[in-house]
Amino acid sequence: MNGQLLAGKTAVVTGAASGMGKAIAKLFAEQGASVVLADLNKEAAEKVAQELPEGKALPVQTDVSDDQSVAAMIQQTVSTFGSVDVLVNCAGVPQAFTPIEELSLEQWDRTLNVNTKSIFLTARHAVPHMKAGNKGSIINIASIAGIRARPGLNAYCASKGAAIMLSKALAIELAPFKIRVNVINPGPAETPMLGKFINGDEAEVEAGKKDIFISSVPLGTLIQPEDIAQAALYLASDLSKIVTGEVMNVDGGRGI
Ligand SMILES: NC(=O)c1ccc[n+]([C@@H]2O[C@H](COP(=O)([O-])OP(=O)(O)OC[C@H]3O[C@@H](n4cnc5c(N)ncnc54)[C@H](O)[C@@H]3O)[C@@H](O)[C@H]2O)c1
Repeated sequence: MNGQLLAGKTAVVTGAASGMGKAIAKLFAEQGASVVLADLNKEAAEKVAQELPEGKALPVQTDVSDDQSVAAMIQQTVSTFGSVDVLVNCAGVPQAFTPIEELSLEQWDRTLNVNTKSIFLTARHAVPHMKAGNKGSIINIASIAGIRARPGLNAYCASKGAAIMLSKALAIELAPFKIRVNVINPGPAETPMLGKFINGDEAEVEAGKKDIFISSVPLGTLIQPEDIAQAALYLASDLSKIVTGEVMNVDGGRGI
């Protein structure tokens, strides 16, 4: 492998202010991409942008569940860098374990809006630009929870299962335009999100990480954000030029 894998490409990464999105943005920039860091958290996105090579990063405050906000972000991407070649939908919200009868309508809607509707919204605004260039790679970060349920993660599992099937539907629809759509299912990962799946005080959260999450991973450790970034790099680059509609579990074997 010679040179940078994403030289000359423009990548939009949602949720780029933290965790996996941040690791993806950094690796993509190292590999030559211009990166748009689209996140609700403006300050954190700006901080990540400062860690990237000058001129290669554009932080844009975005609510991925809001159509107008997504439209403005894609518009800014194209007016700044000229194209959208890669789109990574990584922004997401967790759900603390909740019995179904206690789950509020607001929580259901928010989970589905941020984790699933966002894929529809980013696609509807980015795809016309990808079609114009007759190329593109869309990578949706779903979850192993989208294929393997846990008790009390009802809305979250539903949001990720829908994200996986929406990705496959887009993969078959967009294949004639050479736009590839793939999914990464992370297993339990060491990011700020992980503890938020657990209800309880700090000690209970730490115990839960060990008892619930680490113990469920056959390889015996939590997934690192960089593990997800490496998989995203493969799917974003021409190394995977014949791969579409694929669901890649990056999960230490949790999905077996
Ligand atoms: N951490 C895990 O164990 C785990 C496991 C499987 C899948 N995932 C998924 O991986 C993705 C990344 O998660 P992470 O662990 O890096 O989480 P994180 O909490 O570290 O980062 C999530 C980012 O999304 C942003 N965000 C939230 N709502 C947003 C909105 N409406 N608009 C724009 N940005 C918004 C947050 O500001 C944050 O920067 C998520 O989709 C998550 O569901 C995480």
